[in-house]
Amino acid sequence: MKAIIYRDNGAPDVLRFVDRDLPAPGPGEVRVRVAVSGVNPTDWQARSGAGHPKRFSEITPHLDGAGTVDAVGEGVDRSRIGQRVWLFMAAAGRPTGTAAEFTVVPAAQAVPLPDEAGFDVGAALGVPALTAHRALTVAEDGPRRLRPGALDAKVVLAAGGAGAVGHAVIQLARWAGATVISTVSSPEKASLATAAGAHHVINYREGDPAAEIRAVAPDGVDIVAEVALGTNLALDVAVLRPRGTIATYANDGGRPVELNVPQNMVLNTRLQFLVLFTAGPEARAAAVEDVSAALRDGALPVGTEHGLPLVRFPLHRTADAHRAVETGTVGKVLIDVTP
Ligand SMILES: NC(=O)c1ccc[n+]([C@@H]2O[C@H](COP(=O)([O-])OP(=O)(O)OC[C@H]3O[C@@H](n4cnc5c(N)ncnc54)[C@H](OP(=O)(O)O)[C@@H]3O)[C@@H](O)[C@H]2O)c1
Repeated sequence: MKAIIYRDNGAPDVLRFVDRDLPAPGPGEVRVRVAVSGVNPTDWQARSGAGHPKRFSEITPHLDGAGTVDAVGEGVDRSRIGQRVWLFMAAAGRPTGTAAEFTVVPAAQAVPLPDEAGFDVGAALGVPALTAHRALTVAEDGPRRLRPGALDAKVVLAAGGAGAVGHAVIQLARWAGATVISTVSSPEKASLATAAGAHHVINYREGDPAAEIRAVAPDGVDIVAEVALGTNLALDVAVLRPRGTIATYANDGGRPVELNVPQNMVLNTRLQFLVLFTAGPEARAAAVEDVSAALRDGALPVGTEHGLPLVRFPLHRTADAHRAVETGTVGKVLIDVTP
């Protein structure tokens, strides 16, 4: 089979397009013929080596993807062969990610894809949707699970709503009944956040974003899903309602976090940090179930008309796909692996 591998950490040109033997699924695993591989910032961060010690001599990158089960290991129901699936965390703690014609994952990480959902949608889910689910389910007053109505009467602020995670936050929050506000940095990104389903979109680089958010949410925001905590903490606290939650999954921009302790005490702020890998199996399993329900409801479409442009590369150009993600390409970067 054709596969992308790297042996050393470094720039995108450490990625090589090679032939490898077909992997065999072990007990409890499935082998998936990958149709589309999804690229996330964490994939290039892992490849570059920054903060990610490499654990295997050779790695095929990428956590997310979608395809068809073509073989199962011992203990896995053979009726799964032929099932269309979306994959999450394929390369987490394993050397076999989705940037290959076939990959092998634990059976629970290959989740049935409804007939009406294409492989592009499936490959875009994993990291963004599961992260968004976690951000929306860690508030003190709940909910712990998402379903239609779960966020009724809640206000969610999706920072950076034109980003892949921000897009998933908007879609899941909207599906669950929240009033959704999103911040963006340009009119083009505002169009995307609106197309994703945000009720109110605010350019955080212009005017007085806190006043604009307060104008549409006078009682404050219940949950902030934050991508740039150091830059936005003052804004988040300015618009948070008492006992509200700031759920932060990144510190894009890298600005140090300055915490005004008395102000946060008065607000009873909950500041929740999150990363998918250590969220724990129960939280991940709940997220997979709820995201699957949203998918069945047709609530997670992708493409420019739904707020997430798709930027595609063939498998042999995976290095260019990494460069695209690394340089902040707007939308979801996908790799076409097999027809
Ligand atoms: N903790 C986790 O488990 C987890 C999971 C997924 C992703 N992440 C991390 O989350 C980050 C985003 O991932 P992604 O896939 O969504 O990337 P992406 O598609 O590139 O989106 C990043 C978005 O952040 C926005 N942004 C940057 N600074 C901002 C600011 N100050 N205020 C509001 N928005 C801002 C960007 O828009 P503008 O440039 O226009 O502002 C862009 O739309 C990455 O650092 C990634 O590594 C963490």
